[in-house]
Amino acid sequence: MPINFDQVPSACFVLEEAKLRRNLEIMKHVQEASGANIILALKGFAMFSTFGLIRQYLHGTTASSLYEARLGYEEFGDEVHAYAPAYFEDEMEELMRYCNHITFNSPAQWERFKHKILSGDKKISCAIRINPEYSEVETDLYNPCVIGTRLGVTADQIGEKLPEGIEGLHFHTLCESDSYALERTLKAVEARFGHLLYQAKWLNMGGGHLMTREGYDIDHLVQLIRNLREKYDLNIILEPGSAVAWQTGYLTATVEDIIDSRGIYAVVLDVSVSAHMPDCIEMPYKPKVLGAQDAKPGQPAYRLGGLTCLAGDYVGDYFFETPLQVGDSIIFNDMMHYTMVKTTFFNGVRHPSIGIWREDDTFELVRQFGYEDYRNKLS
Ligand SMILES: Cc1ncc(COP(=O)(O)O)c(C=O)c1O
Repeated sequence: MPINFDQVPSACFVLEEAKLRRNLEIMKHVQEASGANIILALKGFAMFSTFGLIRQYLHGTTASSLYEARLGYEEFGDEVHAYAPAYFEDEMEELMRYCNHITFNSPAQWERFKHKILSGDKKISCAIRINPEYSEVETDLYNPCVIGTRLGVTADQIGEKLPEGIEGLHFHTLCESDSYALERTLKAVEARFGHLLYQAKWLNMGGGHLMTREGYDIDHLVQLIRNLREKYDLNIILEPGSAVAWQTGYLTATVEDIIDSRGIYAVVLDVSVSAHMPDCIEMPYKPKVLGAQDAKPGQPAYRLGGLTCLAGDYVGDYFFETPLQVGDSIIFNDMMHYTMVKTTFFNGVRHPSIGIWREDDTFELVRQFGYEDYRNKLS
């Protein structure tokens, strides 16, 4: 049964367990058919109350910081990978306790830490992030290959041989992409780094593989991976975040006030776009709202906005068949990835609760936030 939103409080991020399992089944199939390992990128989705389920399907986690590595290690299991643009001297030893794969952003970063890693008791397999100078991501904010990027080394900077002690290569250039964008990207990777692929033991192809989106050509992805594995004798790793939590849940909200602003109904909700769904402003994109359409010219437009002082704290204009009233519910769709991991307490706004709509059609409230959570970030 679909979620009964009457049982879900406002405001609340609510995950639909059955939908998460559906995504994980797809990923399990990709792993089995292609031989690749898929790990969860915690930067995109780190709702650890769901890790018991995810662990049944995915191989491990990948972290972009010490804290994510620790969360992955403590809450998911000991297959933990890491990549960060820079690591810190005073964190490396702890990071090494949690991780079994670490990717460095530059040969200089590797030089800085290689002695510690190669002389440690624990076997940690290390990689360098490469920049194939090819990305189809149109928004510069999400394009790691723009001129001036700090993310990864270009072929001319790395040379003919893998740096001593390096076993893997890592690239991340996709964003909500299909397998055909991956195919074109691989052409660029092979053209520039093909010689190194023969030397490497593994290739991490980053995130951005939206294999759980309707219409994604899974068979094509599987074939691409199989070809790579065969040609270069490589272990292939994918580390999606979005694809894991794609279309698995909602953010519930309530209409608190409606202000007639020169012909536009400016709606104040009990959530904030800026604090709780910042990607809508950063990308920008307009999320789907259940029961609403985009407002067309001539239709009454409801501009759904948030609680903070930021004038631009709104998601856009929507049309509702039935005029909105104070107290009505607003349900934002697809609000699991890059939301909970990015929220803030800007303006001291209340943080939405977190809940799960279980497969047995019961609702479980897993977390509520209070004043202490806000205060603990400050001093
Ligand atoms: C290095 C790296 N790996 C994985 C991911 C996850 O990407 P996505 O959530 O788009 O699948 C990202 C996202 O920015 C990333 O930077």
